Amino acid sequence: MKSFLQEVSLGLSKKNKKLNSKWFYDFHGSKLFEQITELEEYYPTRTEIKILKDNKIEIANKIGKSATLIEPGAGDIKKIAIFLDSLDKPKKYIPLDISEDYMTKISKGFKRKFPKVAITPKAYDFSRNSKLPFKVNSSENIVIFFPGSTLGNFEKKDAIKFLKMLKSKFKAKMIIIGVDLIKDIPTLISAYDDKKGVTAKFNKNILRRINTELGGNIDLNSYKHLAIYNKSKKRIEMRLKCKKNSNIKVNGSKYLIKKNEEIHTENSHKYSIKSFKNLANKAGWKIKKTWVDKKKLFSVHCLDPR
Ligand code: AVI
Repeated sequence: MKSFLQEVSLGLSKKNKKLNSKWFYDFHGSKLFEQITELEEYYPTRTEIKILKDNKIEIANKIGKSATLIEPGAGDIKKIAIFLDSLDKPKKYIPLDISEDYMTKISKGFKRKFPKVAITPKAYDFSRNSKLPFKVNSSENIVIFFPGSTLGNFEKKDAIKFLKMLKSKFKAKMIIIGVDLIKDIPTLISAYDDKKGVTAKFNKNILRRINTELGGNIDLNSYKHLAIYNKSKKRIEMRLKCKKNSNIKVNGSKYLIKKNEEIHTENSHKYSIKSFKNLANKAGWKIKKTWVDKKKLFSVHCLDPR
């Protein structure tokens, strides 16, 4: 697995410059993402929460008895807390996140709120596909909770790989997953290019990190935040467009970014119910139930093994 420096060196040397969106999320970036979820234009978080609230009994019935709930990339406990009280004797909750400190903080709040559910947080970066930090017993009712349309940030082939891994490695019996839906382009664009400029700051956080962590000398004001809808790939692409020829230095190496050249920083794929069904099927899962909001902005699916 490459380090931040290796990825930046590689990404900035390419003809089509590219940086991985996972590097947005240091402490500052995670705070900015939290602010994004509260923006008027960013509909996914609030819509998904409403879907989970409106359907919590049915979701709990699908999950069944004595579930071991695993949440890869658990942001906070807000979403699982919506239906946890409705579950029939959940066995344990295993939130997984890259940051161990963050996990410890989360588990304190969780223990206070749900003293009867055992919580065993683990530091785990699912993008590395490394060994699981806990034992799975295939006789358990293992349910994966993967909200927030995080799957949308994966390339299609990686999304399939990830869903396959949940079965083969995590021994999951069910997945409850949030997926953002295809919709009119203006709604999509404004969700990723808000009036207050929070998403622009979030996008530029990757450049800020290059400066602070890798000794870079990038002038953040020389870059413009772009959110473009790629119609054929059905995804929002975030890019940083350079306003003038810039010679940048990162850890002793030089890179020339030409005027109007773009650095591609994130993909956020959007699905229809049908296109998500096809993707899930390719990964060995079938849709048992789908819940959507009235405006059909967002979907939550319950997946069963095929
Ligand atoms: C985390 N992920 C699902 C967000 C999304 O909508 O793709 C990240 C994000 N990028 C810009 N705004 C939010």
